[in-house]
Amino acid sequence: MILKIDRIKKSFDTVCVLNDFSMKINEEEIVCIIGPSGCGKSTLLNIISGLLVPSEGEIINNSPDISYVFQEDRLLPWKNVYENIKIVNKKCSMEKCLDLIRKVGLEGFEGYYPSELSGGMRQRCSIARAFNYDAGLLLMDEPFKSLDYNLRLDMIRYLLELWESTKKSIVFVTHEIDEALLLGDRILILSGRPARVIKEFDIKILKAKRSLAAPQLVKVRNEIIYLLQDKEGRTRDNRPRGLISNLNTLNLSL
Ligand SMILES: Nc1ncnc2c1ncn2[C@@H]1O[C@H](COP(=O)(O)OP(=O)(O)O)[C@@H](O)[C@H]1O
Ligand SMILES: [Mg+2]
Repeated sequence: MILKIDRIKKSFDTVCVLNDFSMKINEEEIVCIIGPSGCGKSTLLNIISGLLVPSEGEIINNSPDISYVFQEDRLLPWKNVYENIKIVNKKCSMEKCLDLIRKVGLEGFEGYYPSELSGGMRQRCSIARAFNYDAGLLLMDEPFKSLDYNLRLDMIRYLLELWESTKKSIVFVTHEIDEALLLGDRILILSGRPARVIKEFDIKILKAKRSLAAPQLVKVRNEIIYLLQDKEGRTRDNRPRGLISNLNTLNLSL
């Protein structure tokens, strides 16, 4: 086990965001977290990373260090792709740096500056940088939110490529059920505030071999949609239900 969160509580003024919240993250595991907007997902990651301190409960952290990927890429604009990746780990050899660049499909763009790259390329650079940082645990807070659906699927492929070679533990927060289905060893569904885990799914299919059309994943997706619905039948992330159901018929094997 790399991290254990035991019955933590966190409030902002009168708003209780997390109460009696527990979860654990095992070695080499990707845990995906889905929950309604404003339920406390980013707060949870901020607590795991030590940016925020819970008022109650305990965090047992066995990872020497933690890296964090945000929704925006946060690259240094005056450094090129190679330098942005290298900067977080001075000991990283040029060879390893170039290998990371290749794994996220940026071969040939080593000398490009962030302003010369598309949003997807910048985010790939940011993810390669996170993998270059010598941390056992990687936190990702809706990292693909600004990208369109097909680009997200590409990003998942790149992320899995990096994960296969490092097996870092990852906590991946997302609004997109399909991202969680393709990436997660476990998927945790959170309730509204104060957030608690209302359901946990174990996905046993090998990550490199997953297809969204696999019967187990279709079943899990339908259960997640049901869990995220409000009383009016809207999904809590405001997506029309029909659109999500239609995706059941797509075969997006990686
Ligand atoms: N620094 C803060 N000060 C006050 N309220 C905050 C702060 N950070 C988050 N909140 C509140 O806590 C709740 C959960 O926020 P957040 O963790 O960002 O939700 P999520 O990431 O699930 O959308 C929201 O109501 C938000 O307004
Ligand atoms: Mg958030």
